[in-house]
Amino acid sequence: MKRIAVLTSGGDAPGMNAAIRAVVRSGLSRGWEVFGVQHGYAGLVGGEIRNLSARDVGGIIQQGGTMLGSARAPEFKTIEGRTKALRHLHQHDISGLVVIGGNGSQTGAHALSQMGLEVVGVASTIDNDLYGSEMTIGVDTALNIALEAIDRLKNTASSHQRAFLLEVMGRDCGYLALMSGIAGGAESIVIPEVPTEPETIAQELRSAYERGKAHAIVVVAEGAKYNAEALANYFKEHREELGFELRAATLGHIQRGGLPGAFDRILATRFGAAAVAALDRGEHGVLVGLNKGAITTTPYAEVTGKKKPLDLGLLELAKQLDG
Ligand code: F6P
Repeated sequence: MKRIAVLTSGGDAPGMNAAIRAVVRSGLSRGWEVFGVQHGYAGLVGGEIRNLSARDVGGIIQQGGTMLGSARAPEFKTIEGRTKALRHLHQHDISGLVVIGGNGSQTGAHALSQMGLEVVGVASTIDNDLYGSEMTIGVDTALNIALEAIDRLKNTASSHQRAFLLEVMGRDCGYLALMSGIAGGAESIVIPEVPTEPETIAQELRSAYERGKAHAIVVVAEGAKYNAEALANYFKEHREELGFELRAATLGHIQRGGLPGAFDRILATRFGAAAVAALDRGEHGVLVGLNKGAITTTPYAEVTGKKKPLDLGLLELAKQLDG
């Protein structure tokens, strides 16, 4: 009988619980024993490992966050930390590990795999910046949360003829800002991939008012050259010459919480089951992802350290459609 473990690491993402459930139940259905590691790599280094039954993962598919907890674990970045982690797995006679997480987590998983452990990654981060998967767990739900915020801001923006700026997460990647900006019909989208000066944004907003719009919304990625705070300061300083006011809101961690939508639950379920299937056929050192509509596995050597490209044609599309 095979014994495997599952952990969630890095920033949590809505849908992680659905992936845990799929890993546990797919493993159990093969007659394996499945263990959960609490608090990501920190818990692996500390030996926080417990057996999981089918009932332990009951009623979690609809819950946001992760029932296993997550953490950012500096100790795991050292060889000593990883050696400790492996020792704990050996003590439980665990031969396979499923790592549900984003870029940093999969880099850690790659390192464990290079130390001889059978590891399979599951692409999960709201940032959608992980090479090897066109969509990652949590992105769709996070996008819908950003979208709701944009829609709400539009109401108040129109009532007051004020410009609004919404900062969304994404680390160094503009995916969430770009896609929520398109879906929300924002007048200006600011992403790290295209450094934009405050004067350009001001011009885009002014032009929106000149065209008779009642609102002007900017969606800015947290990793952009000028974030919400910097832009809000600029607009405050230039309020008189601009002729309109701007208010800024930062969505922050609100974007990572909430119930996972159907897309993320299904994606996570398919990813979790595929990770166990990969371990079953002896395939490891790979990341499970979604590519061209199919569930795929990509070797870690092709995934880690790579920058996922953003389709900048979509930014042009947003500009074109801003009538
Ligand atoms: O990677 C997910 C993410 O939410 C990023 O969008 C954000 O920059 C970061 O995590 C925030 O990290 P923390 O929760 O550690 O503050």
